[in-house]
Amino acid sequence: MTKVAASILSADFAHLHRDCDRLLRAGVDLLHIDVMDGHFVPNISYGAPVLRCLHDALPDAGYDVHLMISDPARYAADFAKAGADLITFHLEAVPDSVSQTIAAIRAVGCQVGLSFRPGTPVEAVFPYLDEVDLVLVMSVEPGFGGQKFLPATPQRIAVLRAECARRGSNALIEVDGGINGETGPRCVQAGADWLVAGNSLFHAEDPAAVLRLLHGQA
Ligand code: DX5
Ligand code: ZN
Repeated sequence: MTKVAASILSADFAHLHRDCDRLLRAGVDLLHIDVMDGHFVPNISYGAPVLRCLHDALPDAGYDVHLMISDPARYAADFAKAGADLITFHLEAVPDSVSQTIAAIRAVGCQVGLSFRPGTPVEAVFPYLDEVDLVLVMSVEPGFGGQKFLPATPQRIAVLRAECARRGSNALIEVDGGINGETGPRCVQAGADWLVAGNSLFHAEDPAAVLRLLHGQA
């Protein structure tokens, strides 16, 4: 079944535990931790200490860490120690050392995801499909929550899904940015396994109703 990860970028940071607990009770499967360094993307979010506190407060949740930073291998151990289950990094951040970065994340005991910007051809991740646990398709330009879903995304997911099938790759496909009750099901139909949603969940009056749409149960 489709898994839904809540992007905490849209939480009220003064009440992070309360907001995340509310969504986990409503049926969110994972917490998605967006890390931005003001260098790879033009915004700064938070780092491993925030994950550590959240993990201490909510130890049973799954933690899906999305590194939008220039030097992911350098910080992998910090996020692993803080409670990351899976760490995703961007192809464009380390184009010449993708396999080394995958190995560095595995070495600290986490599952590995690989992401790429909306302007990067999908084919750029094909060489790594047998090395990663997950591919994260960006459906907005990384850097900010609350952006509009890019309409080319379902087609990009479908191309990736077809290539995974062709190779017999078990890599999961996750999609991130502008996901709501309308765009999410279109991505699932195209082949996405995991949906990331920030604004549409944290700002929902009835998150369980949004989750039913995202889980395909409405
Ligand atoms: C964008 C982040 C996303 C984003 C999701 O750089 O990676 O996770 O915050 O938020 P929404 O769902 O509001 O687009
Ligand atoms: Zn993200």
